[in-house]
Amino acid sequence: MSTQPAFPPGAASAAPAGGSSAPYPPHDAAGTNALTLAAYEARAEVYAAQTENAGSIAHRTFLRRLARVAPPGLVLEVGSAQGRDAAYLERHGRRVRRTDATRAFVDMLRRQGREAHRLDVLTDDLGAGTHGPYAAVLANAVLLHLTPAQLALVVTKIHAALAPGGVLAFTVKVGDGQEWSEHKLGLPRFYQYWREAPLVALLEEAGFARVDVEVDMGRDQGYQWDWLYVLAWRD
Ligand SMILES: C[S@@+](CC[C@H](N)C(=O)[O-])C[C@H]1O[C@@H](n2cnc3c(N)ncnc32)[C@H](O)[C@@H]1O
Repeated sequence: MSTQPAFPPGAASAAPAGGSSAPYPPHDAAGTNALTLAAYEARAEVYAAQTENAGSIAHRTFLRRLARVAPPGLVLEVGSAQGRDAAYLERHGRRVRRTDATRAFVDMLRRQGREAHRLDVLTDDLGAGTHGPYAAVLANAVLLHLTPAQLALVVTKIHAALAPGGVLAFTVKVGDGQEWSEHKLGLPRFYQYWREAPLVALLEEAGFARVDVEVDMGRDQGYQWDWLYVLAWRD
């Protein structure tokens, strides 16, 4: 497998954050997510090794809360990666459909003996007609890779894929603006940072009836970032 980022055809050379001389697509280009996914394809094993046992107390509390508050039924996980959270939810009584846009993660999950499907939350149908509507959709540290315009589109799709009373659960990093970062994987991933108010406004605009946001002070645990933990309910 190539270790070089697969630059999308026609990607413009935008000055990346962090001073690297590599050409990255402008933040609103269609190639933004493709380049991020190329990093995961190339470094899936590295990512999995770094994160298989990760998960703060706040993170596990968030997952247990999701398991408790979602109505009965199937949970769709997008961006499952190594499957840590799906396994945790299953230990707490939920059925989970594992998916990821990165083929290497889907293959990894299948090698574990799990059923897993390739699903790109930006471009694919979420499968509500065949597997859903879903009781919940979980996207831990996934939607932070989308631009605000992409996120608006995706949360609208997710809203439509949820059963009445269904819950969208996701986390994003706290901050302002956006950047490319080669942190941890050594290849560029796009990050969009969020504050609570604009995120809640975006979710309400997509039709979510109730939004609950908690801040995890990740720096307390030695992480670089604080996180927003979001639960959003469909009426
Ligand atoms: C930071 S990792 C988080 C993985 C896992 N949820 C976790 O908590 O460890 C981001 C994940 O989002 C996935 N991802 C990025 N863009 C995606 C997209 N458009 N559709 C589905 N998954 C995507 C990546 O493949 C990767 O698995």
